[in-house]
Amino acid sequence: MGTYEKEIEESAKILSTATHGSAFCGAGNSEESGIATFRDPGGLWDQVDPVEVGTAEGLISALDRNADKLLPVFMEMLDSFEQADHNPGHKALADLESMGLLTSVITQNVDNLHQEAGSLEVIEVHGNLFRMKCLSCNRIKDVERKPFVSEIKEKLNAMTEFTLTSMASLAPVCDTCSSMMRPDVVMFGEAVQHLPKAFGISQNTDVMLVLGTSGNVYPAAYFPIEAKKAGARVIVINPTENAFSAVTDVYIPLKTGEALPAIVDKIKERAH
Ligand code: APR
Ligand code: ZN
Repeated sequence: MGTYEKEIEESAKILSTATHGSAFCGAGNSEESGIATFRDPGGLWDQVDPVEVGTAEGLISALDRNADKLLPVFMEMLDSFEQADHNPGHKALADLESMGLLTSVITQNVDNLHQEAGSLEVIEVHGNLFRMKCLSCNRIKDVERKPFVSEIKEKLNAMTEFTLTSMASLAPVCDTCSSMMRPDVVMFGEAVQHLPKAFGISQNTDVMLVLGTSGNVYPAAYFPIEAKKAGARVIVINPTENAFSAVTDVYIPLKTGEALPAIVDKIKERAH
């Protein structure tokens, strides 16, 4: 790697003394797993209009009106969710947690990759695509990511029309009350999840890793600002500039899958 050795060293030094370390994560963490980010060139919001598809109703009516344009985009997204595996960046966060240097991961991502990499304390402020919630009784059911996506792809490929009824047939049925279930993700205009808990962590952390997020979306983008106000050291890992320069103590313009394992290795080296 060579480049940014000084920043990696500095980050390892800061993190190795953390007692309430935390990470605040965005789509960039999953980019090396093959899942497109939202605002990078060619990202999801370049391909579809978030206002149009950001709500459940909007998504269905957009697909009904414009399937031939939207379906390939969704199929590509589903392919990436089906093929993705957690990357060395996710694994490094799980290692930091087991080393006692990270107490929690606050993530905006809905892809379940932090948990699959072994992170235990994951606060998903935008929900999880593979956790289903019943529209009537709020029952929760986790689904296996890869088989679930394969089944959705199969059903979509067989679909000839995209109406509310046909799209509803994609949804799992609640085992308790037989109503329709939907992915427990936060669509535009819906309340962010676990906000008090995420703010509490941000206000009590002594080191916050800010990873792969442009900082475009509030209230999540407040977390690093809250952390800084509370006296935390803020380490930002992101190959391009982002909204957190004013609160950054150490900035590493690398990919998370490259920088995080290097920091973990440096911490282990220092411990010997
Ligand atoms: N490693 C680290 N950072 C990366 C990598 C990588 N491999 N690849 C891209 N990035 C950075 C980009 O430079 C960018 O700053 O990740 C960031 C991704 O920003 P966005 O696409 O805006 O994603 P995010 O910040 O997570 O968006 C927040 O917006 O639309 C909503 O709900 C959606 O949760 C999402 C929220
Ligand atoms: Zn139910």
